[in-house]
Amino acid sequence: MTNPATILAQSGRPERIQGNPVNPPIVLSSTYRNAGTGPGNIYARWDTETWNPFEQTLATLEGAAFPALVHASGMAAITTALHCAPPGKIVAPRHSYHASLIVAQEMAEREGGEVVTVDIANTDETLAALPGAKAVLLESPTNPMLELADIETVAKAAHELGVLVIVDNTFATPLGQQPLALGADIVVHSATKYLAGHSDVVLGAVVTNSEELHTRMWNYRTHTGSIAGPMETWLALRGMRTLSLRFERITQNAAELAARLSTHPLVEAVAHPSLPNHPNRERAPKGCGVLTLRPKGGQEAADRLVEATNLWLPATSLGGVESTLERRRRFEDEAETVPVDLLRLSCGIEDIEDLWEDLDQALKTAVQES
Ligand SMILES: Cc1ncc(COP(=O)(O)O)c(C=O)c1O
Repeated sequence: MTNPATILAQSGRPERIQGNPVNPPIVLSSTYRNAGTGPGNIYARWDTETWNPFEQTLATLEGAAFPALVHASGMAAITTALHCAPPGKIVAPRHSYHASLIVAQEMAEREGGEVVTVDIANTDETLAALPGAKAVLLESPTNPMLELADIETVAKAAHELGVLVIVDNTFATPLGQQPLALGADIVVHSATKYLAGHSDVVLGAVVTNSEELHTRMWNYRTHTGSIAGPMETWLALRGMRTLSLRFERITQNAAELAARLSTHPLVEAVAHPSLPNHPNRERAPKGCGVLTLRPKGGQEAADRLVEATNLWLPATSLGGVESTLERRRRFEDEAETVPVDLLRLSCGIEDIEDLWEDLDQALKTAVQES
């Protein structure tokens, strides 16, 4: 089973024996009958069978040698991954997801280190920041600017310097790119987004090919208790069954909208890795459901546009079946280099003409008022 669509549909199901269910059961039990120290489960903070099908499926998709480790959220997963690096300097994209930068900064500062942010699309600048670093945290595409990193070149240079390479693969999904094959030591996911895919779960995961890192991350998750609930994990696997269909449709919608918006008279700028003017297009993953849009008329027009949509839902987060949008700088913690009028659009699986019609009418309402 190597085709992702087949893995998604088939992996993590109970053994094919007479009378077994098609789906894995949800086990709601904090503890297990267990005298002594095993074999079998002992306590649900350590391991519980409801995690295993999700963890195995994600590991197979990412091409990992060890099961993924499911976490309470993407941020819990990133925190675990960052804890694998020795104390010291961390290199990260200046347009990383803002909470990732906050956690990295807190961690580095407490340990006498620092976070050095770089333009991750600029490989020379990134490589120049690596000497002396303990970890590099990559996002590609970045959130929300959609910059694309040369993961392979950065990972190779990092390893020559003994720098741990962590890749947040939330935007690309394992269908878009497999960072372990490009040299990442640890891949992290906010499974809240495309993997679970229905905006009904907050969940995260880490994946690695290193037994040592797997053990360290298992220990950190277990001892800090940043574990996932069985319900959430089960729902995430249920959502993942359709990831290949959703991601294909979402990517098609995003690319088509980006192409149409790029010639719209009321649009200042639009970005999507599929556009001919996107720098480093050759580094694009096979799929991207997010695009960014800056309407003419600045921040006020952007805020009006969000209010003027009927179908697009004004909401944060991304990766659901429903299309959402937001102005990212409404958050104080967003990087100041993100333009104030930039809207991040997360495309869903709706009909393209409905999505277009709603955006077009919202643009007319918002921009023509300015
Ligand atoms: C790229 C990226 N990484 C990590 C996270 C954090 O994930 P979670 O909200 O599941 O903790 C997010 C959330 O928006 C994200 O966009």
